[in-house]
Amino acid sequence: MIPSDDQIRQLWDKYSLPENKRIHVTHVARVAEYLSACVMSHVSGIRIDIVLLHAAALLHDIDKNVLKREGEQHPDAGVRILKNEGCDELLPLVISHPLHSILDPKISPKTWEEKLLYLSDKMVKYEIITVDKRFDLWRAENLPKEGRIMLEKAYPLVKKLEAEIVGMINVKAWDIAGLVG
Ligand SMILES: [Fe+2]
Repeated sequence: MIPSDDQIRQLWDKYSLPENKRIHVTHVARVAEYLSACVMSHVSGIRIDIVLLHAAALLHDIDKNVLKREGEQHPDAGVRILKNEGCDELLPLVISHPLHSILDPKISPKTWEEKLLYLSDKMVKYEIITVDKRFDLWRAENLPKEGRIMLEKAYPLVKKLEAEIVGMINVKAWDIAGLVG
């Protein structure tokens, strides 16, 4: 099932998604939908499932306030919850969205919907920014050494994905916040 906006809001409440995360995921959905529309209008033959992408964007961080089971990391608990809620269609997008997934061919974003959710998530904190600014914010966090190494390994791959997508739509990455409005 792909949940409706009403069902998504009920899931946010049921799993106590914090207010700042609701703002984050709403912006991620807006960026993803904007980029999707641009890609489809610039490149013929590409079809992007906007309904699926919208719902996955709004639910990709649903596990923020959920007690993790042993061995679970973000977004494992979200995948478990969404499976229990019957939202199986969203699982590939949620699985492929965390920063580290781009380093693992088994879970790296591959479909258009997965790539656009991944990239959009890296362009938003609590407002729409750029990939470079998002990485600067992560670099300013007190990440453990493993996290810092992963961040720097992921950076060139995220920049490559950004270049692939913004190159297709002829938009400058730093203009996107203003264009999404
Ligand atoms: Fe996110």
